[in-house]
Amino acid sequence: MLNFMTKRDTILTGDRPTGPLHLGHFVGSLRARVELQDTCDQYVMIADLQALTDHAKDPQKVRESIVHVTLDYLAVGIDPSKTTIFIQSLIPALSELTMYYLNLVTWNRLKHNPTVKQEIVQKGFGESVPAGFMVYPVSQAADITAFKANLVPVGEDQKPMIEQTNEIVRAFNRMYETDVLVETTAKIPKIARLPGTDGQAKMGKSLNNAIFLSDSPDIVSKKVKKMYTDPNHLRIEDPGKVEGNPVFSYLDAFGTDLDKIQELKAHYERGGLGDGTVKKYLLENLLEFLEPIQKRRTEFEGDIESVMEILKKGTENANQVASRTLFEVRDAIGINYF
Ligand code: TRP
Repeated sequence: MLNFMTKRDTILTGDRPTGPLHLGHFVGSLRARVELQDTCDQYVMIADLQALTDHAKDPQKVRESIVHVTLDYLAVGIDPSKTTIFIQSLIPALSELTMYYLNLVTWNRLKHNPTVKQEIVQKGFGESVPAGFMVYPVSQAADITAFKANLVPVGEDQKPMIEQTNEIVRAFNRMYETDVLVETTAKIPKIARLPGTDGQAKMGKSLNNAIFLSDSPDIVSKKVKKMYTDPNHLRIEDPGKVEGNPVFSYLDAFGTDLDKIQELKAHYERGGLGDGTVKKYLLENLLEFLEPIQKRRTEFEGDIESVMEILKKGTENANQVASRTLFEVRDAIGINYF
């Protein structure tokens, strides 16, 4: 009988607080979080420990971004009465779990994580990659398993972290003959990755090609006007390319009138539709999308004290859950000495 009852899914996700969140975050994960919070037990973590793995010299930026990111969460509609929002470094169990898991992962395996490899190049670490940075996927496994999250809504770039997590879960459960750790699944959205305004495959704060959720209409307008389009679409009469054209990717992600978007695409490909016209339409759509988000943000900004209280309560709640898992993990290993 009981087998037919469905257990609620448990979700954990997070973001590094290294700056404000952008449209790519919205498409990649924020949108899913707002939807899932009604039906799942959801934890959203501000990953300040992870942010410090490449911002050790800049804790001030991390600190300021914690508030910024929390405001972005609340602004898009993550509701603290449904979602536990918490700060990673204030959950000591996460650091301790990381230490145990590190023994189950080989150095060689860490070196071959494709996302980490890419970031090392992007961040220009050269030979000086901080050890903490190399092992952040293991810390991420601690984040996920501490809450026994079976679903992780993330962008595509996070897939290797989920694989690493499941390898650790299996290795741990096998080694200590237990089932305390739970395997997890990445929930990748249909449009998992939003290109940058420059047409690069990924929107990123450090790539200087992002539109932030908190950008004023004026700034959004400037960024849209400068957006990359089809470089061979020189005259309005020329046929243009929709594929690889970020203006259309954004319309797919944020536009509401699907028929109209189809029509614009066909017209663009036929020729006779100028970039300016499409951009103007995109701007209207983006501003309409951002308006309620920014309105809510302004409201919360006016009451930072409640925002801090939300973080504090969420962190207390998260601490209880993670401590319980840590106890079980120590028990499974056999090191609850007293
Ligand atoms: N690595 C994620 C990012 O770059 C942040 C993160 C840390 C995370 N821990 C997590 C995401 C656990 C999902 C689950 O944004």
